[in-house]
Amino acid sequence: MTRIQSAMFFVALVATAMISALPAQAKGDPAKGQAAATVCAACHGPTGNSVIAMYPNLAHQHPEYIAKQLAEFKSGARVNAIMAPMAAGLTPEAMQDLAAYFSEQKLVIPGAQNLDLAQKGRKLYRGGDASRKLPACASCHLATGAGIPSQYPRLGGQHRDYTIAQLKAFRSGDRANDPNSMMRMIASKLTDQEMTELAEYLAGLH
Ligand code: HEC
Ligand code: HEC
Repeated sequence: MTRIQSAMFFVALVATAMISALPAQAKGDPAKGQAAATVCAACHGPTGNSVIAMYPNLAHQHPEYIAKQLAEFKSGARVNAIMAPMAAGLTPEAMQDLAAYFSEQKLVIPGAQNLDLAQKGRKLYRGGDASRKLPACASCHLATGAGIPSQYPRLGGQHRDYTIAQLKAFRSGDRANDPNSMMRMIASKLTDQEMTELAEYLAGLH
């Protein structure tokens, strides 16, 4: 691939990112969401800050992203044996309420454990790798890790183990609910070592 072709690839990706960042629509009721969230607390914590690294933090995540994931656990578009029964009984309205509640909670940043790994992750996160046509994660998830509502989730302050598991699931295709295969394409280029570095960096990013 020539330099111009790779440059065009990057532009196309960023253009996709901008076009699909549509404004938020549905708004849930956070008070109703809080009441419904008691069943979620065992794994995700009462405020969406989980204490077990395999369970994702939900606090401060974009509500549209949370609602999308719940709908897709229910439909089976995102396959997970633990979350499928949790989402099965939720109406679209209840999903919006839960999403509103968790999105308003303060996120507790787990922090990076290995700063050497995190430093390597930072480089890839911010710069990508043009020689492999790997776009910078920051082009969609932003340099702050805050993401772009409604389509690009917040990654900063997420548990390391959860992030690694998701990157591996995108790479293997076990997780296939990413629009236009965006994350599957990106994860297919990442090594295990790079996933660890990125996840280590993201755990402390805010
Ligand atoms: C028994 C533990 C458990 C309970 C209870 C639980 N979850 Fe989960 N949740 C998980 C696990 C494990 C995952 C990661 C699934 C995967 O790897 O795809 C997850 C993932 C999620 C995600 C995706 C987060 C992301 O960043 O993509 C959302 C949203 C979510 N859960 C919401 C809820 C809500 C709302 C409830 C309560 C109605 C709930 N969960 C109850 C274990 C649980
Ligand atoms: C072209 C845009 C784009 C780029 C570049 C991108 N992502 Fe993503 N990413 C997405 C989208 C869209 C989703 C949400 C998928 C969905 O709707 O379930 C996502 C989801 C994720 C998730 C799942 C989050 C969760 O809470 O479950 C992780 C982890 C992730 N991306 C990491 C990365 C990393 C690391 C990079 C860089 C190597 C990267 N992404 C680059 C678009 C992008």
